[in-house]
Amino acid sequence: YLELSLRPQRLNQYIGQKKVKENLGVFIQAAKMREETLDHVLLYGPPGLGKTTLAAIVANEMGVNLRTTSGPAIERPGDLAAILTALEPGDVLFIDEIHRLQRSIEEVLYPAMEDFCLDIVIGKGPEARSVRLDLPPFTLVGATTRAGLLTAPLRDRFGVLSRLEYYQEDELSEIVQRTADILQIGIDRRASAEIARRSRGTPRIANRLLRRVRDFVQVLGGESITEQAATEALERLQVDRLGLDHIDHKLLMGIIEKYRGGPVGLDTISATISEESSTIEDVYEPYLLQIGFLQRTSRGRMVTEEVYRHFNLEVPRHD
Ligand code: ADE
Repeated sequence: YLELSLRPQRLNQYIGQKKVKENLGVFIQAAKMREETLDHVLLYGPPGLGKTTLAAIVANEMGVNLRTTSGPAIERPGDLAAILTALEPGDVLFIDEIHRLQRSIEEVLYPAMEDFCLDIVIGKGPEARSVRLDLPPFTLVGATTRAGLLTAPLRDRFGVLSRLEYYQEDELSEIVQRTADILQIGIDRRASAEIARRSRGTPRIANRLLRRVRDFVQVLGGESITEQAATEALERLQVDRLGLDHIDHKLLMGIIEKYRGGPVGLDTISATISEESSTIEDVYEPYLLQIGFLQRTSRGRMVTEEVYRHFNLEVPRHD
């Protein structure tokens, strides 16, 4: 499956996230030297930065199977019990969006993480009794957009907490070059740099833009992706010079036009532009905060002067 083979399989193929990569490398090596199971790992940070990829790499490097599920996919404690009892010793269980696990399911996870056992209740009423089931030792890799979304008891059971950061432009450019090589697309350095600049620090966006740019070049009869071809395609995709898209524009212009630049509460913005508050908070806002386009204050979100300049608007005077 191409989508999967695009992803780096080993730690030394993984570009960027230097600190996370170095530290994970040490913990993996140490666990292997001691012939132990790797401690549980929590990966957190904005979407598209490589949490799933890292989980797969951890499994590969440890030489074990990867089992993948997600918080919302586990509906009953029995679902989790079925997954846990099917693991082989040392396996990596990846739970994406782990902050969305129900509390009743989290409680099954605590003894599983801590003591590799399951407490199951059999029967109902006065007949009910609890049996303890041993599990094979395993590594839980959890992923979430924000560590703060996890309950404290769950967060405390991870031995390794790694925060993924937005990528630098040179790292994204390297990722675009790597993906282009795998897809056998010719691309100039300047074209990959242009795609990188407009990818909001996010490899998933960079790789998506690369594919869309390739579509334009292919249909227009181009041989390979030049800087000009990339720039023209990106304009047609309505991705601006900073990589901001239609929804970023709607969000920022909404605050400017309806609330004079803010401050305005998240739920009000959400209603104004018809986007879920959680999507704004997890997907759109982090990058706008990072580039200094938004500020969070106690009274709500405010746009900065940079936003007015970016849209060629007059910066309002403070009175
Ligand atoms: N593809 C997507 N993310 C990547 C990364 N961090 N390193 C290498 N290839 C990638």
